Amino acid sequence: MNLGFIGTGKIASSVIEGIFKSSIKINNIYISPRNKYLSKKLEKKYKKIIIAKNNQEIIDNSKWIFLSVTPEVGKKIIPKLKFKNNQLVISFISSIKHSELKKKINKKVMIIRAIPLPPISLKKGPVPIFPPNKKVKNFFNKIGSTIEIKNEKLSINFWSTSGIMASYYELLKVMSEWLVKRGIKKSDAQKYITSLFLALSEDAVVNSKKDLKYLVKESQTPKGLNEQGLKEMSKNGVYKSVISTLNSIHKRLNK
Ligand SMILES: NC(=O)c1ccc[n+]([C@@H]2O[C@H](COP(=O)([O-])OP(=O)(O)OC[C@H]3O[C@@H](n4cnc5c(N)ncnc54)[C@H](OP(=O)(O)O)[C@@H]3O)[C@@H](O)[C@H]2O)c1
Repeated sequence: MNLGFIGTGKIASSVIEGIFKSSIKINNIYISPRNKYLSKKLEKKYKKIIIAKNNQEIIDNSKWIFLSVTPEVGKKIIPKLKFKNNQLVISFISSIKHSELKKKINKKVMIIRAIPLPPISLKKGPVPIFPPNKKVKNFFNKIGSTIEIKNEKLSINFWSTSGIMASYYELLKVMSEWLVKRGIKKSDAQKYITSLFLALSEDAVVNSKKDLKYLVKESQTPKGLNEQGLKEMSKNGVYKSVISTLNSIHKRLNK
């Protein structure tokens, strides 16, 4: 089976890297010439990558088509593209709803919305999909963990939480820079902080069936450093700010 990606940006290239590390069987992957740098890099790295002349050529040659452009570009280009009735379209586009995609595509294709994240290039991370679909579920289970969602409103909640990704990395950056300012070598600081958060996340995943409040509790010694850290950050409104940011991202996605 041939796959096609309309838009070769961050998320398309991450998914493609994941596919080539996985057991997914494909013939070729057709990609957009844009972004020029990323498409050329992928073509150089993998024999099965073909840079198409234009977006229509991708659709004409592929059974599954991944929409991986920004919402603004998607709204402009999708209505001009000609899909075939038996194709499967998987949209990564954050703010174009299923019904709107259906109208814009205007063919009897199966449309699935999916939210992979960049660690999919390492075959890691959750991939919420809407509506549920067995083939798409099996596909993403080979490069991550698929979560099937039965209604689109619920899937928008997942989108909202994925909008905190850059803020999370900013936290790692701020903490590393803090160590560097105190004389620690940048490579040691970044190694320490990233390994610390990897270990904490792995522990959280292992314990994810329990209420997360137990991890919060168990990581504090009475009158200890973590108790102080949590108290001060709560008092400073850090967690309230997380909730209000989630609410405003959610509002934007629900428009
Ligand atoms: N990044 C994430 O973590 C993530 C996760 C899940 C979903 N998404 C969604 O996936 C979509 C893409 O996000 P991204 O982060 O991958 O963005 P991105 O890196 O900016 O990629 C978008 C790509 O589309 C290309 N493009 C622009 N106009 C085009 C056209 N007319 N035809 C074909 N390609 C065109 C751009 O090329 P140029 O550079 O040449 O303009 C760019 O390579 C967005 O809707 C986003 O919400 C992103």
